[in-house]
Amino acid sequence: MVPSSSSKRPCSSVVEHSPCKRAVKGSNPFGGSPCEGSVNLSIYIERFFTMQNIDEFYSTNSSKNWEKVLGDKMHYHFGLFEDELDPFDNAILEISQFIENNSKVLDCGCGWGGPARYLIKNKQCDVTGVTISKSQHDYVNDFRVFNQDLHNFIPDQHYDSAIFVESYCHLSDPEKVFRNLNKQVDNIIIKDYNLPKTEEVKKWGMIIRSENDVKEQLKNCGYEVKFYKKYKKEVTYDSVFLSTKYWLSNIQKLPTKDLNGQISILKDLCVIVQNYKKIGFDLFLLHAQKSDKFF
Ligand SMILES: C[S@@+](CC[C@H](N)C(=O)[O-])C[C@H]1O[C@@H](n2cnc3c(N)ncnc32)[C@H](O)[C@@H]1O
Repeated sequence: MVPSSSSKRPCSSVVEHSPCKRAVKGSNPFGGSPCEGSVNLSIYIERFFTMQNIDEFYSTNSSKNWEKVLGDKMHYHFGLFEDELDPFDNAILEISQFIENNSKVLDCGCGWGGPARYLIKNKQCDVTGVTISKSQHDYVNDFRVFNQDLHNFIPDQHYDSAIFVESYCHLSDPEKVFRNLNKQVDNIIIKDYNLPKTEEVKKWGMIIRSENDVKEQLKNCGYEVKFYKKYKKEVTYDSVFLSTKYWLSNIQKLPTKDLNGQISILKDLCVIVQNYKKIGFDLFLLHAQKSDKFF
């Protein structure tokens, strides 16, 4: 069962063999090391984030095991723990305030389809997904999906909105992706993480960017930011703490032989978070609207 906001809070007994103390160094539970000064993003482009290794990262574990970890709806993002709503649906409900009923949505980095299915069911949207992961692509059989690197993806039709649910952080060159969307996509909605200074988190194949960098990238690609919300620290804490608590309790039921690939990296993150009283990054939600055409 997915936890509700009432099933709080730090240092619970879900983590075996891990005493409740602040043994973890640094301020970023994702495990990245702080960078000095500003980061030149272009240095990352050729390096770490090739199609092959992000695909591998998301495709090593079987979808059966991911269902056991994430639950049947297969959302793979932090939930929003308020009321008695399913917290993972609730996070997409929050996004959906920028999405019209019956509109066309491009889900950029759609995972196994949790957010897409929510929008299809609750907003009657016509959703197309894009994922770099071959196994995620093969798993989805209920909406149109492309197995492609977003950096090379040129939409073949008009979309009212493109959503990035915790996938923006994987992009090595977001401006390339936004420029490719500009001709066909009116609105961009991003739910992701920020740090005060842009920082690379190698283990997860992520670059967690600063608020300014995200806004600048969109502006450079013809999108004007209309809404930006940085969640309060307590909301972010509950979101990360309770989501990882739920995932960890599911991971702990898997046989040891299945604790490999990303699931084992996720397990490490979950354990760290359960022992930590502070989350080093901010969760944000952003909506940008097309202001210019690039063509
Ligand atoms: C944390 S998961 C989020 C999945 C989904 N949005 C959700 O919330 O359930 C990140 C997703 O981004 C996708 N992704 C990462 N880099 C990508 C790229 N360059 N092109 C396409 N998809 C990418 C991964 O395959 C994965 O589906």
